Amino acid sequence: MNKLVIQGGHRLDGELRISGAKNAALPILAATLLTEDTVSIRNLPHLHDITTMIELLGCMGVKLSMDEQMRIDVRADSITEFSAPYELVKTMRASILVLGPMLARFGRAHVSFPGGCAIGSRPVDLHLRGLEAMGAEVTVDGGYINARVDGRLHGARILFETVTVGGTENIMMAAALAEGRTIIENAAREPEVVDLAQCLLAMGARISGHGTDTIVIDGVERLHGCDYAVMPDRIETGTYLVAAAATGGRIHLRHTCPETLEVVVQKLREAGADIEEGDDWVSLDMHGRRPRAVSIKTAPYPGFPTDMQAQFTALNAIAEGTATVIETVFENRLIQAHEMNRMGAHIVIEGNTAIITGQPQLQGAPVMASDLRASASLVIAALVAQGETVIDRIYHIDRGYECIEEKLQQLGADIRRSRE
Ligand code: UD1
Repeated sequence: MNKLVIQGGHRLDGELRISGAKNAALPILAATLLTEDTVSIRNLPHLHDITTMIELLGCMGVKLSMDEQMRIDVRADSITEFSAPYELVKTMRASILVLGPMLARFGRAHVSFPGGCAIGSRPVDLHLRGLEAMGAEVTVDGGYINARVDGRLHGARILFETVTVGGTENIMMAAALAEGRTIIENAAREPEVVDLAQCLLAMGARISGHGTDTIVIDGVERLHGCDYAVMPDRIETGTYLVAAAATGGRIHLRHTCPETLEVVVQKLREAGADIEEGDDWVSLDMHGRRPRAVSIKTAPYPGFPTDMQAQFTALNAIAEGTATVIETVFENRLIQAHEMNRMGAHIVIEGNTAIITGQPQLQGAPVMASDLRASASLVIAALVAQGETVIDRIYHIDRGYECIEEKLQQLGADIRRSRE
């Protein structure tokens, strides 16, 4: 099984190009099911989750061709299979995003209940209730969701009781082809939802209010092809900024969008980092200093992203002072703390709160990755620690970080992949 072997203690210093956003690319790939025309997608990240989504679309009969720049042409003009099988869906929760588009265009979908990260129970009840409000008949049988509608879905007013990114995306895609107007209230405002809306607009959809908590979609009879470039990955950007800050280093990130990272940048400044930003770049300089502890509380956008929580836990583990990290979006998402404590961190978990007393030094140790962002936090801890850390089960990290070892090597880190 693949492992990452890291010799810590090197200050990161250098420049990187940020990849396309995984969490925007996945719904955009699912949205290609909404038209029989060719949709060309550029700036797709080279990631395991993207391959899984491509495989899933391929299984359904979608034609895909890709060039070496990861530009992909997708044509869903001859769907033969209306099912998303457990074998694929279990490895990636975002597979649920094919449900809305399939139902809206073909009137039926058979999708396995998703698996995904081990970060607590992650239901899809809000997706299903939203589709039911639009006229779908939904049953659950043998671990599969069966959804059907006679004719077209119809518009509805959908009020989400919890802000859900995937739920907002599924309903927005379904509503694009529904009859009449759909209003999503308490909608997710995440930049990836906005990116999907922009792609749908380029396909001829009628959507307004994306980026606010009320999205209005006027359904159209058909959507057409388009050429769309996926937005830069704000979580990858944030992860490298934190890695540089934790090592006292400096970094310049190109082809990114600092505007989507405001609260993360604010917290890094609080930790003592000098940060400059332009429209599509951001640079951070820690001037060799040890970071100061910063407390955070996760919340839906524009709050502090849950996908950056683990990385800040790692930063706090070696910071000066004590911090609390409160996770309000997912349960069980502080699991990385136990592995970090094996490296000499001092983290106490109480319910959904981690109390972290920063240590002057961490020590390398064998550790195990448990989910995508938790793995990134272990990499950050390992970069700072004295001696060697071996991170096992890094398939989690390959789901969300493109060429992580090459990128970190480019910044001067001593990191390699072992296939033992
Ligand atoms: C997306 C992101 C993920 C990020 C998360 C929160 C993708 C592919 N993944 O996940 O990286 O961590 O947003 O920003 O974009 N919930 C329900 N019922 C539902 C749906 C959600 O109770 O039907 C709850 C969840 O359990 C969770 C909260 O709502 O507590 C937020 O989940 P949601 O925003 O849906 O997360 P994802 O879309 O799965």
